[in-house]
Amino acid sequence: TSDVKTITITGAAGQIGYATAFRAAAGAIYGANTRVRLNLLEIPEAAQAAAGVAMELTDSAFPLLSEVNTFDDPNTAFEGASVGLLIGARPRTKGMERADLLAANGQIFGPQGAAINDHAADDIRVVVVGNPANTNALIAAKHAPDVPAERFTALMRLDHNRGLGQLATKTGSAVNDIEKFAVWGNHSASQFPDLAHTLIGGTPALELVSEDWYRETFIPTVANRGAEIIQIRGGSSVASAASSALDHMRDWINGTGERWVSMGVPSDGSYGVPEGLICGFPVTCTNGEYTIVPDLDMSPFACDRLDVSVNELREEREAVRDAGLIS
Ligand code: NAI
Repeated sequence: TSDVKTITITGAAGQIGYATAFRAAAGAIYGANTRVRLNLLEIPEAAQAAAGVAMELTDSAFPLLSEVNTFDDPNTAFEGASVGLLIGARPRTKGMERADLLAANGQIFGPQGAAINDHAADDIRVVVVGNPANTNALIAAKHAPDVPAERFTALMRLDHNRGLGQLATKTGSAVNDIEKFAVWGNHSASQFPDLAHTLIGGTPALELVSEDWYRETFIPTVANRGAEIIQIRGGSSVASAASSALDHMRDWINGTGERWVSMGVPSDGSYGVPEGLICGFPVTCTNGEYTIVPDLDMSPFACDRLDVSVNELREEREAVRDAGLIS
């Protein structure tokens, strides 16, 4: 029925998929008044594991979960979907060049984009989590010509949340007291976590922390946090990635008010970022639409940092063009 929203999760038997599905079933995206249907997409080799996840979802008796289904075909998995959480991707294996990685992911995100184009609901919103997330989102969008390109986004929210966590810890403040923080660029080590506009309890963050800490500690810590988690936890970021993907979707749909969040969205040319590249920007969300925060002053340092990351995005786009994955 129309009052049930369909959420399609790809890579649903993987680590992040497993952590995401239960909170999505508990209402983390739409809230406590909307029933949801979960469509779990996996590759055939993991279909049985996905069926096991579905059994556990049933066993959790979530009041908001109207049904859960498993699929190994994106065309059926995206039927009627309002939300696509594109988590499953081809991981980089030893000795794999970046071009091979992009090509392997093109084989996944091209068909999923086409399936979304042909089968998803009119209000479909997509966040790509699977890496390289920004460029995978671009590939999916290019295969969905009938869906507005702005419905395809990439996850920068984990980087954003990591930055909030670092800043709150350093200054002894609550994350809720931090405003106007953003992560620009690619979801990669080249990203630019930007404190130039940030306020903590109304005071500029750069009056509370030193420029040196900002540049030499904060930026590299946030940008390399994924690698640090692997080293310390003995496994990649999973629950934090799931939590951030749900934050991204919840805020996009339900709005942020004046609060900034970071999302990887197709550039409209803002801040000199070439149009169409899916790039991290500060955004606010209202009525189910995001707006890139306009007219920010960018220092030469900020421009340089953004340039480096945007150049990487541009190279990734060239690589998938050369591989014939997009036109
Ligand atoms: P995982 O390997 O545990 O799970 C991935 C799952 O995707 C596997 O079950 C696999 O069978 C499935 N899969 C592969 N191809 C598929 C396809 N064509 N259709 C449906 N399912 C498919 O990996 P994990 O830890 O869950 O991570 C998933 C992705 O998220 C990785 O690419 C990882 O790099 C990325 N990631 C992104 C973050 C971000 O902030 N954007 C943060 C952390 C991870």
